[in-house]
Amino acid sequence: MIRINVLTVFPEMFGPVKEQSILGKAGEKGAIEINLINIRDFTEDKHRRTDDTPFGGGCGMLMTPQPVFDALRSVEGIKEQPILYMSPRGRILDEDMIRELAEVEEFTILCGHYEGVDQRILDHWNMREVSIGDYVLTGGELPAMVLIDAVSRFIPGVLGNEESAEDESVYSGLLEADQYTRPRDFEGMEVPEILTGGDHKKIRLWQLKESIRITAERRPEMLETWVRSEPELDGFTKKEKKEITDLIKSLTGKKTC
Ligand code: ADE
Repeated sequence: MIRINVLTVFPEMFGPVKEQSILGKAGEKGAIEINLINIRDFTEDKHRRTDDTPFGGGCGMLMTPQPVFDALRSVEGIKEQPILYMSPRGRILDEDMIRELAEVEEFTILCGHYEGVDQRILDHWNMREVSIGDYVLTGGELPAMVLIDAVSRFIPGVLGNEESAEDESVYSGLLEADQYTRPRDFEGMEVPEILTGGDHKKIRLWQLKESIRITAERRPEMLETWVRSEPELDGFTKKEKKEITDLIKSLTGKKTC
């Protein structure tokens, strides 16, 4: 069970994500609890404002400290948990960070809006700034949803089958092979014959080779890391392992694994 507190001025944006099939079911099963906290509920401003103009000029508005401080203080055990602030200035979200967060019992995310937040919020609460990529969105809500979705896949009970989070492309260290479903022939476009033949060993080998090819083409640095990790290639015969090694050699000019 993981509890994720989300501080936002737009809690309604999270509705569809909370109710969406996998996360929704995870919530019902008690595997994940998303606790939405409306920052506006804590403002002492008579106009219910949560933002103000920046000192020193500049365009846009900043989130003021008071409502955010009070919203954070309303979270029990806040001092003992990671607090994240979604921001394009942050460390880029990656697998290591996602796995680390999936291990904690509770964490809190602050979603910024306007042009950012008063720096004292980040400093006082020792917030970790997290970015989902080198582009700027209008607020931290969508990035927070991306993070929650990625973390949730590692929480036991969220996905039907525990293995599936690990199996996915990227987490296995390689990009996934192309996939097909019925019909075998759609308007003359056919599914590769090997996939419809039912020989599971041959299919596994084909999929791994395709994964290697695609990774070499699109993410050569990822293939290099994979090769360096000396993957076991369990379940493949000596002859198949040689085929795989030769393929890697032809694609990278390197001989390993
Ligand atoms: N807020 C605005 N842009 C963002 C980004 N790229 N990542 C995280 N939070 C953001």
